[in-house]
Amino acid sequence: MIPVTKPYFPSREKLNKYIDGIYERQWLTNNGELVQQLTHRLESYLGVENLLLVSNGTLALQIAYRALGLRDGSELRPEAITTPFTFIATASSLKWEGIEPVFADIDPHTWCLDPANIEAEITPNTRAIVPVHVFGNACEVEAIDAIANKHNLKVIYDASHAFGVKYKGESLLRHGDAATLSFHATKLFHTGEGGSIIFKRKEDLERAKKMINFGITGPESIEELGINAKMNELQAAMGLCVLDEIEENLAAREKVWHRYEQALGSTLQLQSRPKALDYNYAYFPVVFKTEVQAVQVTATLKEHGVLARRYFYPSLESVECLGVEVDQPVSKDIASRIICLPIFDRLSQGDQQSIISLIEMELKA
Ligand SMILES: Cc1ncc(COP(=O)(O)O)c(C=O)c1O
Repeated sequence: MIPVTKPYFPSREKLNKYIDGIYERQWLTNNGELVQQLTHRLESYLGVENLLLVSNGTLALQIAYRALGLRDGSELRPEAITTPFTFIATASSLKWEGIEPVFADIDPHTWCLDPANIEAEITPNTRAIVPVHVFGNACEVEAIDAIANKHNLKVIYDASHAFGVKYKGESLLRHGDAATLSFHATKLFHTGEGGSIIFKRKEDLERAKKMINFGITGPESIEELGINAKMNELQAAMGLCVLDEIEENLAAREKVWHRYEQALGSTLQLQSRPKALDYNYAYFPVVFKTEVQAVQVTATLKEHGVLARRYFYPSLESVECLGVEVDQPVSKDIASRIICLPIFDRLSQGDQQSIISLIEMELKA
């Protein structure tokens, strides 16, 4: 089987050395040496400040909402405007935190939240905008920031897919009051499970640091309500090893990405990205002419042992437990016709060619 993605496995020897250190120090969690090292190395690699490591990307979102005061108690039902074209965690984390997700439709070319649709959804209960840099593409950050400033809203970018992406020469993660990353095993950079939050302001970082450790501030002091969202030393060890080899990983993915683009870019719709974007080659999504074609291609690939994914499908307004049933025609349409093709560093040229040939055969049928 060829999966849609494969976790990156760094050098076992190197990982063993980090694990030896953990055994020597006898320190497994609670802001250990490796978590501190990884924090500094990621800040430097990504070109950001105020980075906080947490145990996964969903908690990263939840902590960001809390640290930025989206639920300050003044509203019974605070709302956040977000995109329906994303992984469920973007919207479900809001709902889980007692914040109503309100969808605004996406742009048909970039597949990110369309700023032109945001203002119509703002109500007196709106606290924030939660856009997603979907598949690592940059949202229209300037337009979104302008709307947020005008209406005094917080912006939390779900940047789970945007590790290492640069926009206008700077880290894309510098935009918003906070940006969150997922370091899940399937992501370009990972810690097995894990995530992080990059805050614009140091005071928000400091508040979040307390929150992820139960609100504890000293041996005998608990300052506020908190939760356990700490990254542990084993996760950080994996992260340090993956980071050591990130350039090789990126270069291999870039090659795979370009081979797909060359073969399929003129027949299928690809995501439009701004010129000023330095991309991370994390995903290769393609949009077919019809849903029937997308479903047929997925089935044919599966028959031949290739697990392409209908990703993101379905558009989230149709997910009942979120309780938001307003139709989002653009998102619904793209979601119905999209497939993410396998992309990972060790995808062989032969396997990739078979995938391309199967798709070409279906397109001709
Ligand atoms: C857009 C998006 N948001 C949030 C998450 C949740 O991250 P995690 O799986 O690390 O909790 C993911 C990925 O899994 C994601 O793709």
